[in-house]
Amino acid sequence: MNAHYDTLEEEVEDLIEQLRRYQQAYYVDNRPLVSDLAYDHLFDRLVALETEHPQLRRQDSPTQRVGSDLDSSFPEVRHTIPVLSLDKAYSDAQLLAWIEKTEHKVSQDVGIVIEEKIDGISIVLYYEEGLLVRAVTRGNGTVGNDVTANVKTIRSVPLRIPVARKLAVRGEVYLPRQSFSALNEQMDVPYANPRNLAAGTIRRIKSSEVAKVPLQIFVYEGFWEDDRQIGNHLLILSTLASYGFCINPNMGYFTRDAQTSRANLERAGLKGFAGSFAEIGSYIKAHTAARSSLPYEIDGLVAKVDELALRESLGYTEHHPRWAMAYKFESPQAQTVVQAIDIQVGRTGRVTPVARVKPVQVAGSIISNITLHNQDYIDMLELGLGDSVEISRRGDVIPAVERVIEKNEQSDGTYHMPPTCPVCSTPLVQKGAHTFCPNVQCPAQVKGRIEFFISKEAMDIENFGPETASVLFELGLMQDVQDLYTIDYRKALCDQPGFGEKKIRLIEEGIEKSKNQSFKRVLVALGIPELGKKGAEILINAGLDSMDKLLEVARSNDIEQLVAIKQVGMKSARMYIDALQDPVMLKRIEALSAVGLKMEQDAGEPMSIDQRFAGQVWCVTGSFTHFNPRSLAMDEVTRRGGRTVSSITGKTTHLLAGSGAGSKLDAARNLNITIVDEQTFLSMLEQTPTEEEKQGEFSF
Ligand code: IVH
Repeated sequence: MNAHYDTLEEEVEDLIEQLRRYQQAYYVDNRPLVSDLAYDHLFDRLVALETEHPQLRRQDSPTQRVGSDLDSSFPEVRHTIPVLSLDKAYSDAQLLAWIEKTEHKVSQDVGIVIEEKIDGISIVLYYEEGLLVRAVTRGNGTVGNDVTANVKTIRSVPLRIPVARKLAVRGEVYLPRQSFSALNEQMDVPYANPRNLAAGTIRRIKSSEVAKVPLQIFVYEGFWEDDRQIGNHLLILSTLASYGFCINPNMGYFTRDAQTSRANLERAGLKGFAGSFAEIGSYIKAHTAARSSLPYEIDGLVAKVDELALRESLGYTEHHPRWAMAYKFESPQAQTVVQAIDIQVGRTGRVTPVARVKPVQVAGSIISNITLHNQDYIDMLELGLGDSVEISRRGDVIPAVERVIEKNEQSDGTYHMPPTCPVCSTPLVQKGAHTFCPNVQCPAQVKGRIEFFISKEAMDIENFGPETASVLFELGLMQDVQDLYTIDYRKALCDQPGFGEKKIRLIEEGIEKSKNQSFKRVLVALGIPELGKKGAEILINAGLDSMDKLLEVARSNDIEQLVAIKQVGMKSARMYIDALQDPVMLKRIEALSAVGLKMEQDAGEPMSIDQRFAGQVWCVTGSFTHFNPRSLAMDEVTRRGGRTVSSITGKTTHLLAGSGAGSKLDAARNLNITIVDEQTFLSMLEQTPTEEEKQGEFSF
């Protein structure tokens, strides 16, 4: 125990108190009080104490923010406050007219607060006895999902506040633009915008993964069990700030005259712009212009009546309060309705939900189909049939559903993919984020495989299009791609409309010619998941330049050998091996080989990157000046087609010996292995273009 404390409890208490203060200063106030090192030191001490004495671990301990690997499921919980939406204005004239109307309704002067409308996800934080007890998504406004474990990882969400009264706080969880770009680059399924990535993150099953995403929050409404003392919105905001919440300092406060505004804003202790109603128009203009230079995305502004008593008398409609109004920016977006959600089964069996929307023009073209990627994406959007949605082609040309604008009241809520394949009725299975039809004979998959096999990307079979493939498939002549090479086209097609003598001859020629296609194309055409042109090149360049070699890797389940190749990640390696162990795949390969397709790289075929170490086996030992850690040297070898091993055997061809190489040197000498020192190695590498380091796979 630390000598300054009488009990461990006291020390824990003090650590929590200090860490909370430092976190607040760092994450909320943007004014760090201590160095990272000092902070880490205290944090580690607290972790150590809690690990050793679990009974001391408190719910509001800062260590609880790192998340856990346990499943966070998201049970539905009922909101204790109505989580309403906002009415919208699309011009400053409309907004000003609303303010005027409002003043008229209450027949007195009002104060108007204008906040940024953060483009994030709406979350309600519930506090009881000073502790954060629940964080709930907006859901349908009455019932949302409990995402507490995930929200706790957001550093700017206080886990404890200094008041015991029950409090509900509404805020917007968002991801700063910069973090979005960095993370999205590494995603399997890129998100359309920071908002959707934030929403996807909040629904991650493991809170430890949520903790890796630097989500932030701005809060903008507080509902106390009894809020007699608080008379206006400015005070709500400053009170929330005093509890340690992040409130957005970019706001404006307006009354009839600027002087009153300034005084009120100052009294509340808030930063922001104070002005008169006459200045609202220019405030909106300035804000619209400055929008793109903000570090986070906003999709508009929100004007709110300041006086709570007036809010009460203005009241609510079913959807929105009458005391607030959103001002929406224009954007390359459109509104439409989801008329159906279809399920497409791809050649690898992956099942993709596709929204069929009422056709609408966005950024110059008519959109009617939009991929929804997977069930997680649908859940994140809380999307159901008949919902009105906002769609976009922001940045990307690919259309995306941005959000649900209005739920279809008659729908069953969020759409769920069916449990069985819509084509072959086989029960679907889940692999990671995606859903698959496991039946490799599923007609949709067979058809997809054949279409892919003949396509430009793969075998590029001349005079053979998807229509021809479709006719043969419907005739029941094709169970798998190899059948292309055994079909008697004359017999099969002579009675088919549109297939004359000449066309059939061209088809036959195309098929015959395709036997000359490179091994690389054959490898791609097999339809191994994740193995496209680039992947095939990487494998071949790394020395796996024949079917036999690849099958050997699969047979011996040698995932290590694949992962040792610089550009092959764990996930792809597993997929390649699984595919090459599959009996249907093996049969396909055998049949294609039997009809004469190339099963190895032609000797003369040029490689796309310098492969000077192809076929060599290198052992790397000792330490190096230019390669620290030593794995950097191993990367250089694999990048140029060599293989690396950790010990010297009869198969080793080279030993790269750094300083302190030790016993491996002797072993190498005994076996007559070429010994290379660092200088020689560097000159061997010279003038070889170094490839950009491969980014690690994002761990979602
Ligand atoms: S006030 C009852 N203030 O916009 C009033 N909402 O379209 C509640 N939003 O669901 C909303 N920034 O998720 C308010 N400063 C802000 C906001 C804000 C973003 C979101 C919120 C709401 C949606 C309404």
